[in-house]
Amino acid sequence: MVSYKELGLVNSRDMFAKAVKGGYAIPAYNFNNMEQLQAIIQACVETRSPVILQVSKGARDYANINLLRNMARGATEYAKELGYEIPIVLHLDHGDSFETCKDCIDNGFSSVMIDGSHLPYEENIAVTKKVVEYAHKFDVTVEGELGVLAGIEDDVVAETSHYTKPEEVIDFVSRTGVDSLAISIGTSHGANKFTPEQCTRNADGVLIPPPLRFDILKEIEDKLPGFPIVLHGSSSVPVEFVKMINEHGGKLKDSVGIPEEQLRQAAKSAVCKINIDSDGRLAMTGTIRRVFDEKPGEFDPRKYLGPARDALKKMYMHKNEEVLGSAGKA
Ligand code: G3H
Ligand code: 13P
Ligand code: ZN
Repeated sequence: MVSYKELGLVNSRDMFAKAVKGGYAIPAYNFNNMEQLQAIIQACVETRSPVILQVSKGARDYANINLLRNMARGATEYAKELGYEIPIVLHLDHGDSFETCKDCIDNGFSSVMIDGSHLPYEENIAVTKKVVEYAHKFDVTVEGELGVLAGIEDDVVAETSHYTKPEEVIDFVSRTGVDSLAISIGTSHGANKFTPEQCTRNADGVLIPPPLRFDILKEIEDKLPGFPIVLHGSSSVPVEFVKMINEHGGKLKDSVGIPEEQLRQAAKSAVCKINIDSDGRLAMTGTIRRVFDEKPGEFDPRKYLGPARDALKKMYMHKNEEVLGSAGKA
């Protein structure tokens, strides 16, 4: 058993309490490798932002849990070395079972998500409660989910979303004891969040998605005053990265994300954790493609991963400062 406290990490409880009160959201950025982690830490230290480092089941399979945990420990020391100590959470993203959550808790994670959103309601409650009972013994915080997001959540592919039912949230939270709740109000995973048919086009031909269901969010907030709400699938799919990818040999079609103004609006409410992964993938891919295109003789990975890391850092700083409002809150 490795306790997150020995690794210099914190759980999400205080972070969320401050974020809900302060009207901002904590960034939850996924990482799978060193360059992504460096970019996240550099950006969050420079903007003085707390941060949640997210590891998906896919990331565990890709990078190895021991390595990821030690990278997170390294990140806490790296942040100090950069000159400012920020609170860092190591969080399991979309935990698919009690066993996966337990394994992460036993391996130094300070927060886990148990994603039972695809299960029948009572089964979701049962597995979430079981995870909470185990996690709380070690002061690890737990995120549950109600409602289904369209797109891919690890191995679970949902064709259509089901909005969270506000009438279920009090029952779910009180019976499971979760510390935060992920809800479905129109966001979804990946770079193609809506079909072109669901969108309108502006004068430049850019797809404009339908607005998030702020009415559902308001109903949930009214039922659970001050309770931490989480938004998954919150990449904005910036046009400049999609363009960069396509101008350098890529083929991304009909990509569309959540407009930043809507995320800013959500961050001012009880939404206190906003999950962003795809935008980082787009920034890295676009930058690497550009280097390969412009310098076909380049074969030193540092010469393309370095610029990708810089682009990522710039993007994360922008999110903290202009979208989530977490800059200056560490
Ligand atoms: O919600 C999904 C995250 O973007 C993680 O994706 O399972 O491909 O690592 P992944
Ligand atoms: P995006 O695919 O919109 O970045 O969402 C990431 C996410 O929700 C991770 O859990
Ligand atoms: Zn997610």
